[in-house]
Amino acid sequence: MDSFLELCQTRYSVRKYSDAPVSDSDLNYILECVRIAPSGVNFQPWKFVVVKSEEGRKKLQRCYDREWFSSAPLYIIAYKDTASEWVRKYDGKHIGDIDVAIAVEHLCLAATEKGLGTCWVCNFDPSLLSELFPQRENLVPVALIPLGHIAPDCQKREQGRKVLSEIVETI
Ligand SMILES: Cc1cc2nc3c(=O)[nH]c(=O)nc-3n(C[C@H](O)[C@H](O)[C@H](O)COP(=O)(O)O)c2cc1C
Repeated sequence: MDSFLELCQTRYSVRKYSDAPVSDSDLNYILECVRIAPSGVNFQPWKFVVVKSEEGRKKLQRCYDREWFSSAPLYIIAYKDTASEWVRKYDGKHIGDIDVAIAVEHLCLAATEKGLGTCWVCNFDPSLLSELFPQRENLVPVALIPLGHIAPDCQKREQGRKVLSEIVETI
């Protein structure tokens, strides 16, 4: 990867994984990229649970019941910690979701750099997840991220993007 732009262009939502396991060194590299993500007032209001065991994988697959999702060798559950997120005093806006989103995108891009695939998943059943993976009440699941080697026959859906002139205004 020669540039950050190329890294961003290479990442896509991977919805089919091979059986090959993710090495500990790749996983640790990716988690280090997560760890150093920026957050509001550096509060780091997050927790990341790596789900690797067969029992854990099966339970998580019930929370997002899609065939492609089951093919991932491991998952990361990204939680925001509502007890330690920064809240803007002017309007009471909570920014924990923003913080977690930045860290998760670090995860996805670091995985891409390592030749691995990921997919953001927010359309999971949050109450089932809380039941199957009990955590402290202040930990709210934000996203599930499957992580693994991309299956050779994984279909890349071409997802168009708005052109710059539609989304950027210079004043
Ligand atoms: C916050 C967020 C939530 C998403 N949730 C899901 C999801 O629940 N299931 C899914 O298959 N894809 C999900 N996606 C993936 C998007 O559909 C995908 O990123 C978008 O269509 C652009 O495609 P690309 O990632 O291949 O570039 C999510 C993406 C984001 C950023």
